[in-house]
Amino acid sequence: MLANKRILLIIGGGIAAYKALELIRRLQDGGARVTPVLTRAGAEFVTPLSVSALAGQRVFQHLFDLTDEAEMGHIELSRSADLIVVAPATADLMAKMAGGQADDLASTLLLATDTPVLMAPAMNVRMWEHPATRRNLATLQADGIARVGPNDGSMACGEFGPGRMAEPAEIVAAVAAALGDGPLKGRRIVVTSGPTHEPIDPVRYIANRSSGAQGTAIARALAALGAEVIFVTGPASVPPPPGVTVVPVETALQMSAAVDAALPADAGVFAAAVADWRVKTASDRQLKKTRDGMPALEFAENPDILARISQLTEGRPALVVGFAAETDEVVAHATAKRARKGCDWIVANDVSPATGIMGGSENAIVLISAEGAEAWPRMGKDAVAQRLAERIAAALA
Ligand code: CTP
Repeated sequence: MLANKRILLIIGGGIAAYKALELIRRLQDGGARVTPVLTRAGAEFVTPLSVSALAGQRVFQHLFDLTDEAEMGHIELSRSADLIVVAPATADLMAKMAGGQADDLASTLLLATDTPVLMAPAMNVRMWEHPATRRNLATLQADGIARVGPNDGSMACGEFGPGRMAEPAEIVAAVAAALGDGPLKGRRIVVTSGPTHEPIDPVRYIANRSSGAQGTAIARALAALGAEVIFVTGPASVPPPPGVTVVPVETALQMSAAVDAALPADAGVFAAAVADWRVKTASDRQLKKTRDGMPALEFAENPDILARISQLTEGRPALVVGFAAETDEVVAHATAKRARKGCDWIVANDVSPATGIMGGSENAIVLISAEGAEAWPRMGKDAVAQRLAERIAAALA
């Protein structure tokens, strides 16, 4: 799977560094050649000897090691790999990467490289949730840095929550995906996301509160598994993920046409909150207040993109996934919606205010398919996306 791939593995200073030893083994089992770099803090957790013994070659540690500079400059070291993996990516390493600092070998390599980078964050849950780390994460994502984890779980520091480094097997899968070798390699998937804006006049529109967060996370997760993703997005409040083809649209009609243009595809994931109605004839001039009172707006129904694509007799994607945001009788309503629209799966969630899901970072979904309803435990929207992407990969296999 990873035959002859060259991986530069940067091991940061966290307790999860011990898992980097197993990671080296697993990467090698897949056929990769691993060149290890150990940060100063990383060397407090694992010894250079154990790292180099496992990797079967010397471990690079210092920026101003003249022998290294003579044999292989740090610039060359950073570029001679097919992929740079940072595991564990500590809060400090992430901050250095996001800030473009270069004050040791690891950060200098990361700044000097033009090679794709995959990071496996690992830190205390408070550090992971700190606004500074959130900012750094957003910057790194926008810079195109791929990420695996962190997972939820109990941590060495005794706390519980997101912050545990992904398991070596998950990191190996993410490495394969980052190298374009994931289970969705060669698959084309259309994803709709975000709200739509339906114009009333040149300055006013009808909209909804969708942020596009879940659709964006799904597009990112599908791309990470190697899919070619056509991301048709309304005006969302989160930036689109790197590594996908972005098709920005405003209205439901534009979204519908963009989806048609993106076909054929192996799967369609319709996560957008499409306005059901548009103003029949939007004014080309700004509507003014008149003595006659409010202007009468006449509405027309928008095309139901999900239903239309689900019911195509020719060129229907093999797997069509819709969403249902419900406030009561979630399973019953979503099951009826699946039958009505003709899609294969419905990802249903309870968005009643008490759940805190709308606008929050977590989601609790029920996956409705021909086999019935499967309730997933409450988890982060990224984790939902990851799991859904894996299910899609399994369904298309
Ligand atoms: N959808 C779509 N095009 C539309 C409306 C909805 O593709 N014009 C898709 C959404 O992207 C989502 C699914 O249909 O995947 C369900 O959307 P929802 O608004 O819950 O469905 P409605 O048909 O509007 O059902 P309801 O009666 O609950 O409003």
